[in-house]
Amino acid sequence: MSESEAGRITIDTSRPHPARVYDWWLGGKDNYPVDEELARKILAADGTAVRGARANRRFMHRAVRTAAEAGIRQFLDIGTGIPTEPNLHQVAQGAAPESRVVYADNDPIVLRHAEALLKGSAEGSTDYVHADVRDPDTILRLAGESLDFGRPVALSLVALTHYLGDEDDVYGLIERYVARLAPGSHLILSQVTQDLSPEGVARAAELFRRSGTPFYPRTLTEFARFFDGLELLGPGVIPVYGWRPDPEDVAAQAEGVVPVYAGVARKP
Ligand SMILES: C[S@@+](CC[C@H](N)C(=O)[O-])C[C@H]1O[C@@H](n2cnc3c(N)ncnc32)[C@H](O)[C@@H]1O
Repeated sequence: MSESEAGRITIDTSRPHPARVYDWWLGGKDNYPVDEELARKILAADGTAVRGARANRRFMHRAVRTAAEAGIRQFLDIGTGIPTEPNLHQVAQGAAPESRVVYADNDPIVLRHAEALLKGSAEGSTDYVHADVRDPDTILRLAGESLDFGRPVALSLVALTHYLGDEDDVYGLIERYVARLAPGSHLILSQVTQDLSPEGVARAAELFRRSGTPFYPRTLTEFARFFDGLELLGPGVIPVYGWRPDPEDVAAQAEGVVPVYAGVARKP
């Protein structure tokens, strides 16, 4: 981010933003009263929101570790969110310091805090792109200044696709990103589902929509479709707690259901 770009950031505090609502659920401080109000309303309507956000974030850590263990050293994370430690680059570079990471998000508040995402290892690199996931040409072009798309990349869109619908051609969009990836690349996804908490998620989705944020929970079949043509890593598409859980995830599962599906697949 250049200084002039940083100077032009305008934060709209008159309506809630998904990144800031999620930040409130994660216990962060980078949110405003409008965000807290919606976050509390959704939590009251769907008691799973806080543990869901935490479980989702931990899935990102496990999936990135898995990609690093598979030898991947390049990461493109779209829909990054407000920095929350450990951030993706800390997990990736913790496993392999030479890892190169590009973050992308379209929310000005994430841009404002991007500096925290840019303090990576000396051996690797971290970059930030302020762009909309619906503009793959821009994201792939700018990411290509740092990543070599001739070699495997882990592409993560974690807790992002539930903000995208048919009008965004969400399946076509993911296909366009995946088409650009080299064999051996990984696709890391999670998203909210109505399958596991139908009433709570319907209420939460309605609250998001009424606040101006379109929201699209998906069934297991709809979620699995994102991975068409790819090789799913075990255990496949599954409720987020169950994806290669660490002992702390097994313990957290006792707190109750989390209506989020997760999956990781490899491009053959
Ligand atoms: C729920 S947060 C998830 C953050 C992080 N991926 C995680 O799982 O911890 C969703 C993020 O997606 C971003 N986002 C939503 N719509 C987007 C879009 N059209 N383009 C880029 N980012 C978007 C939001 O700004 C927010 O930071």
